[in-house]
Amino acid sequence: MAPTSTPDSALSASVPGTAPELAAPYGSGAAGVGPQVARVRTHHLQAAKAAGGKFAMLTAYDQYTAQIFDEAGTEVLLVGDSASNNVLGNETSLPITLEEMIIFSRAVTAGAKRALVVADLPFGSYEQSPQQAVASSVRLMKEGLVHAVKMEGGAYYAPTVRALTEAGIPVMAHIGFTPQSEHVLGGYRVQGRGDLAQALVDDAVALADAGAFCVLMEMVPATAAAAVEAAVSVPTVGIGAGSSTTGQVLVWQDMAGLRTGKMAKFVKQYAQLRTILAEAAKEYGDEVRSGIFPGQEHSF
Ligand code: KIV
Repeated sequence: MAPTSTPDSALSASVPGTAPELAAPYGSGAAGVGPQVARVRTHHLQAAKAAGGKFAMLTAYDQYTAQIFDEAGTEVLLVGDSASNNVLGNETSLPITLEEMIIFSRAVTAGAKRALVVADLPFGSYEQSPQQAVASSVRLMKEGLVHAVKMEGGAYYAPTVRALTEAGIPVMAHIGFTPQSEHVLGGYRVQGRGDLAQALVDDAVALADAGAFCVLMEMVPATAAAAVEAAVSVPTVGIGAGSSTTGQVLVWQDMAGLRTGKMAKFVKQYAQLRTILAEAAKEYGDEVRSGIFPGQEHSF
């Protein structure tokens, strides 16, 4: 059977097999803001998998893109540590700090009313111990107001995933190509080829058993991703992992064509924002230089 797109019912409060969500018992923000918007929860992603549905995930790093993607129905927004490359202009994701991730998280959660917002634990904020991971994640949730964290690494991090989950922090595990380890992995390379696919399955099973609500796979063969999707009961998300995963994720600047240059094979561009913005900036500049802007209608 061809996979259906995520049925809206699978993401509403009436997911089959799950009780409808009750009104917040202790109030929920400012009084009089109107009806509560249903939030996508981890169990909705689980229900999507159970129903043979799919969900979409995009990175976001600021309030406007968060709002636009949220209103477009994107179920999960990722405050990726790719903000390091895509926003801050670093060569890799390694330099971004926890403080910077908290600022981006706060902006995204300000714009997203429905999406589940997940933030990356940046390099250096969780590797030392489960306690360090809990402390960093608590900051992302308390100060950045995100709903879950994503953490790179395989079975070795199962105790950390367990500690986070027990502390009330939902964890999305990230396996396959893990950009924070690019210097160990020897650059951008597809992971889990051939016999190594079993190691990928073993990692995913260990992380899901430890409590991860979702397993994200980056740059792995489609067959290996399919084996992982079949081996774990939790939903999976892919980026360069073929079509078997429950969800798909792309970096928004790649998806919308804000970035140009050589794209990874897994990127599909749905717009050419760079061209649109460049044309707008050029027209604005021409009108300023020729005295057309501002016109009378823009003056007081
Ligand atoms: O940081 C990020 O944008 C990511 C995606 C590539 C999945 O981790």
